[in-house]
Amino acid sequence: MSNKKIGVVGAGTMGNGIVQVCAIAGFDVVMLDISGAALDRGMSAIQKSVGTLVKKGKLTEEQQAQALARIKCTTDYADLAGVDMAIEAATENAGIKATILAKMDQAVGETAVIATNTSSISITKLASKIRNPNRFIGTHFFNPVPVMSLVELICGLQTDGLTLDTAKSFVAQIGKVSIVAKNMPGFVVNRILVPMINEAIFVLQEGLASAEDIDAGMKLGTSQPIGPLALADLIGLDTLLMVQEVLYESFNDSKYRPAPLLKEMVDSGNLGRKTGKGFYSYS
Ligand code: CAA
Repeated sequence: MSNKKIGVVGAGTMGNGIVQVCAIAGFDVVMLDISGAALDRGMSAIQKSVGTLVKKGKLTEEQQAQALARIKCTTDYADLAGVDMAIEAATENAGIKATILAKMDQAVGETAVIATNTSSISITKLASKIRNPNRFIGTHFFNPVPVMSLVELICGLQTDGLTLDTAKSFVAQIGKVSIVAKNMPGFVVNRILVPMINEAIFVLQEGLASAEDIDAGMKLGTSQPIGPLALADLIGLDTLLMVQEVLYESFNDSKYRPAPLLKEMVDSGNLGRKTGKGFYSYS
């Protein structure tokens, strides 16, 4: 990738994380969202996170200033003109993503790669929303983006080799590692991770152990950095339920049925860290 200009649509948790790692890696980044308030929240999160890196000595103040200066905030799709790659990182909703991708497609040039950060929606299906599906690919980042090393790359039916190579090179340039997955529901990581978390919720619901003991068991017994219920709160229970439902409906297999307690929690509005309460409370 020669010109090194990236567009990111969505300034939420995943979007601002992607913007941050791109800006620190030296890319000029256009961060787009629907409102100034959403962009302000995204920029504040980036400033806080980058500030922490400076305090820890991982970034100099000069590098911090340079990284922040590389980020341009906008609500206008026309500002995506000239990017080498545009990544959609909006709400995990097929209709919303389709609308956004069509707008991105009109705004970027004909050779730009268009990518989506979907965690579960079919890449082939989303690709049908843009003019040239050959240059469309899934780039699935993990939360928290500045910390997690992996990006899953998912090729749709029509993704071409040049697009995959461009995406691989981009991931390497932002200091992360890519794996390549086929376009199957949940791809690789969520196919394994989300049912594991869902099972932990069944275990809680059935009263086998307390939330604390389930998490301590998985942390200490399998060396996971945090337990599955704490991870559920980090991911967001609504996102988790949505991925589990995609697996259940796509494979039409009862082994993927969402835990009733997960549905109850989502219905109650307690979605994890982002609402201050999930399986644990957050101040
Ligand atoms: N942004 C930037 N840095 C962060 C951060 C954030 N949001 N959260 C934590 N960190 C940094 C901390 O500053 C700290 O850095 P140092 O080591 O330099 O001090 C480091 O990460 C460790 O953080 P903490 O000591 O505060 O806490 P921790 O040891 O519990 O680590 C964690 C936090 C890295 C998030 C760790 O708990 C972890 O790895 N959890 C698992 C996360 C995971 O599995 N994510 C994938 C979710 S699945 C997904 O995203 C896909 C999907 O589609 C659903």
